[in-house]
Amino acid sequence: MTAPQILTILGSILFVLGGLATFVIAYRRGPSSWEEQLDKDARKADRSRIPSAFTRSKAAELPEPTVESPAASVAVAVAVAEEPVEKIHRVVELSASEQGVNRRQFFNRALAASFFGTLGTFGVASLAFSWPKVSGGFGSDVSAGPVQAIKDAIAQPDGTITPFYLPAAKAWIVPVSDSVLPNSQFAEDLTVADGLSALWQKCVHLGCAVPWCQSSQGFECPCHGSKYNQIGEYEDGPAPRNLDRFVVEVDSKGEFIIKTGSVIPTERAPAKSVKYPQGVFCTAAAAE
Ligand code: FES
Repeated sequence: MTAPQILTILGSILFVLGGLATFVIAYRRGPSSWEEQLDKDARKADRSRIPSAFTRSKAAELPEPTVESPAASVAVAVAVAEEPVEKIHRVVELSASEQGVNRRQFFNRALAASFFGTLGTFGVASLAFSWPKVSGGFGSDVSAGPVQAIKDAIAQPDGTITPFYLPAAKAWIVPVSDSVLPNSQFAEDLTVADGLSALWQKCVHLGCAVPWCQSSQGFECPCHGSKYNQIGEYEDGPAPRNLDRFVVEVDSKGEFIIKTGSVIPTERAPAKSVKYPQGVFCTAAAAE
């Protein structure tokens, strides 16, 4: 797996953990009791309504003032009116299911749901894009077929070569002979197997697909003119390094396998391993 892929996956994991923490904090900050859920205005209105209703109901029960005892009737009325509100204001505790979902909880949950929906979509898309495929296609191990058949297709009757292009691997397969390999940068790595190597077709400057030039016997980028010799060593132009290579192997059936999930970059070759160019260029001089 390449560094950008690892970073993308780590970023997705951190993003998910951050979202989880946000959700937990938002959930725990909800009101702790039924009374706290009422806003100020609602509570004020309730308080002002309760005593007046009480007063009206009690007033209806009062005896009519009589000529004999007007003061007693008035005293009862005053006593009732002055009865503390706390005595008649009963707080009814509701269970969680009876309380239902208040406005704040609703918005908290809606926010968390939309956040996680977006996050999930982003995470799945990132992983699907970055994760190497298990089999078949770019990002996995791709078989180019029998080694000998590839070598036969590469070698030309006039002594030149034509690299074997494998679209599924986005790679050029080139020969690296035993006489060239020991003097190259690739002698110690896993990018050469049975005299063949696989170069990623992507230019290491800005990513254009690099075509083969039969006359110069090298790769020439049409975008800004970077040039690479037949084994992918940097020769000219703004490219910062050699063409990137893939780890390769020959399997038990004699097929050449390109591990396109393993890209190996190498610095500009200090000394070139093969002659270049071997004829006229296909593109103009490089734009420095
Ligand atoms: S993309 Fe190839 S030289 Fe710029």
